[in-house]
Amino acid sequence: MSVTKSTESAISGYPQAVALSDGRSVELRIIGQSDRDAIVAFARNLPEQDLLFLRVDITRPEAVDNWLTNVASGATTSIIAYDGEQMAGFATVDRAPARWTRRVGELRLTVGHDYRSQGLGRHLSSKIFDIARSLGLKKLTANMTPDQRGAQAAFGRLGFTAEALLTDFVEDRNGNLHDLVMMTFDVDGLTDHALQ
Ligand SMILES: CC(C)(COP(=O)(O)OP(=O)(O)OC[C@H]1O[C@@H](n2cnc3c(N)ncnc32)[C@H](O)[C@@H]1OP(=O)(O)O)[C@@H](O)C(=O)NCCC(=O)NCCS
Repeated sequence: MSVTKSTESAISGYPQAVALSDGRSVELRIIGQSDRDAIVAFARNLPEQDLLFLRVDITRPEAVDNWLTNVASGATTSIIAYDGEQMAGFATVDRAPARWTRRVGELRLTVGHDYRSQGLGRHLSSKIFDIARSLGLKKLTANMTPDQRGAQAAFGRLGFTAEALLTDFVEDRNGNLHDLVMMTFDVDGLTDHALQ
């Protein structure tokens, strides 16, 4: 998939430093092959509850390889946050392959436990919204389960609204079924709220 001029410009300002509310500074970068091991280490450090519901099981190096292949093909665009050598979080947008849903992207956003509630999720989502807009996306979806109350509240604060509840759509790592809450965000309706 070719990279358009507007996408080139949206991804041109990296790496860039952002300040967290506790005073730490993290560096945002566009993801690449060299991030593979850091991603696996980051995923393996996530709380058990998050691991249970990881949409893609990135504790497995093969799953990360698959992700990075999608990045190389242009189907996925991702931003990764580092605190020094340690990965602090990521935001990624996957484009829908079918033509009739080509204006819809799926957002996955995960912040490491030690970095939560410091504004990193908001920084990452703001940046990925810019990229989504440059890709011509009109709508972003974010999928979670009703159990993930904190994530639903956080995505609500980021401007997402719950749009669908799909029964028994999710099987967690323990083989238990859960409903899926699909939250959506209107990319064109974005205001600068994400940066405030
Ligand atoms: C959801 C998640 C990405 C939020 O990241 P974060 O860095 O903690 O978020 P921020 O500090 O930037 O907060 C963003 C907004 O959400 C609110 N928020 C964050 N966590 C919250 C929680 N548990 N409950 C209620 N609101 C919350 C913040 O107050 C903030 O709103 P405000 O700026 O208007 O005050 C993070 O909790 C996470 O990684 N969760 C696990 C992964 C996940 O479930 N992802 C969802 C599926 S894609």
